[in-house]
Amino acid sequence: MPNDSIGSQKQILQHLAVIMDGNGRWALKRGLARSAGHRYGAEKLYDLCVMCIERQIKYVTVFAFSTENWRRPADEVAQLMDLFVYFYNKYKDEMEKEGIRLRFSGVEDGLSQRILDTINEAESTSDKRKTMQLILAFNYGGRREIVDSSKKIAAAIQNGELNPDDLDEDSFRDYLYLPDVPDPDLIIRPSGEQRLSNFLLWQAAYSELYFAEVLWPDFSADIMDKALEDYSKRDRRFGAIGKE
Ligand code: IPE
Ligand code: IPE
Ligand code: MG
Repeated sequence: MPNDSIGSQKQILQHLAVIMDGNGRWALKRGLARSAGHRYGAEKLYDLCVMCIERQIKYVTVFAFSTENWRRPADEVAQLMDLFVYFYNKYKDEMEKEGIRLRFSGVEDGLSQRILDTINEAESTSDKRKTMQLILAFNYGGRREIVDSSKKIAAAIQNGELNPDDLDEDSFRDYLYLPDVPDPDLIIRPSGEQRLSNFLLWQAAYSELYFAEVLWPDFSADIMDKALEDYSKRDRRFGAIGKE
């Protein structure tokens, strides 16, 4: 479904965010180790990129690892870390061909030098690409982002760059991790859970939410189109009155 025909009101979907959840349950249902679910989930991420390019979506943010996911067993954490390097090396040529710019949103604390180097390479080699931005929320927490922004604001006030009277919702945004990225129009969470789990708390203020029972490794173009169809019928009021 081309983006310009989504919805009778031509409701634009510029930024889609996805909480890639359900890998563990997908694997357990098949008698496999959770790690197998994560591996299939990473493959599905590339499928998602292709689906989004076909539908002319310009920004896609995916939740890949939360600041709370460190609470998992060390071997699972290690696998999730490695998976990012695996995904990048496997798909970097395709991403270049497709014009995908890769960006990261999250904190460096706890990430190995190998991962930091891969992030740097992925960002610096792709920053001129225009077709779509793939933003990996990796070691990301929404509350942490708001705290980090507040610290930057405190420092700016302290060194005289910012007058507290000039601080408002728009200027606060400048201190978020990726201030130039528009807020997500739609957030899809598969796996049957109906919560944000600390994802994009500031940016999700007026995002439309879509929950699906499917486990992330089984996500498909059909489910994506159902979500987009549903989105096209939403009346985004932003606090004002509706369209009728
Ligand atoms: C999502 O799948 C992957 C990450 C959170 C990194 P889960 O591992 O959370 O899968 P479930 O929710 O246990 O099924
Ligand atoms: C959210 O999933 C984080 C990612 C998909 C990376 P979780 O599986 O960590 O969320 P909870 O624990 O069910 O809320
Ligand atoms: Mg989960």
